[in-house]
Amino acid sequence: MRSQKPRPAFLMCRPTFYGVEYEINPWMDVRRQPDHPRAIRQWQMLRNMLQAIGMHVELVRARPSLPDMGFTANAGLLHGDIFIPSRFRYKERAGEEVFFTSWFFRRGYRIRPLPAGHHFEGEGDALFVGEKLFLGYFHRTDIRTHILIGEILEVPIFSLELVNPYFYHLDTAFMPFGPESAIYYPKAFDSYTLRILRQNIPDLIPVNAEEAHYFACNTVFVGPKGKQARHAVLSAPARRLGKILEGRGIETHPIETSEFIKAGGSSKCLVLNLGYTY
Ligand code: ARG
Repeated sequence: MRSQKPRPAFLMCRPTFYGVEYEINPWMDVRRQPDHPRAIRQWQMLRNMLQAIGMHVELVRARPSLPDMGFTANAGLLHGDIFIPSRFRYKERAGEEVFFTSWFFRRGYRIRPLPAGHHFEGEGDALFVGEKLFLGYFHRTDIRTHILIGEILEVPIFSLELVNPYFYHLDTAFMPFGPESAIYYPKAFDSYTLRILRQNIPDLIPVNAEEAHYFACNTVFVGPKGKQARHAVLSAPARRLGKILEGRGIETHPIETSEFIKAGGSSKCLVLNLGYTY
């Protein structure tokens, strides 16, 4: 059992073996490979930036033949001292599960696996707004996992259907930045889901189509739990969103993630919250 007090930290994984080696989302094209040295530089910039704004970064070791392991948001979901490991939809990523789970196990977290065959892709599809847990489903995560996750963590859950294949994980189209606030891309959701969002989150900021396609929703927000974020590490082309956030007193830190967008991810996909969630 962990006794350590949670501190503002993220889990990251150096993209040592990163590449587009298969196609499991519409952004991935094996003929359009990332520039590897550039990807490493972009990842390092993100890590430096997060440390500069006061975050501690823990690392899990990259493994060969698991090119997407850098996207640690998909490791699982941590809440308090409970870690729910992911069960990846595609066999291409399933090999990551054991390495992520053992990282948490070795550090004394309580591991609560979902039943076999219940697909769940971690924080990529599970984001807290205050104490409410918003969960995405359809492309990766199965809706039947939502109720189990709510029971394990003893939190209220809200299921959001993702209807656009380009926005296949919840964190590509939705990101909380305070106890009652989130940015979102409306076209990633159907009208019923939009109603759930609008009824339960008082402060919702829409992102436009162009910026959403630069992964503007995949912003890393940093700030004291329970309050509005103080910092936003966001996709450099998302200038409009940057201005809106600055207008709300949030300091913005634009960052290039072009090489990761080729695999369908950006800044937030590259980090997993360790005891510091909205
Ligand atoms: N290529 C990876 C996949 O398709 C990208 C994962 C992006 N992660 C995220 N949290 N959205 O699984």
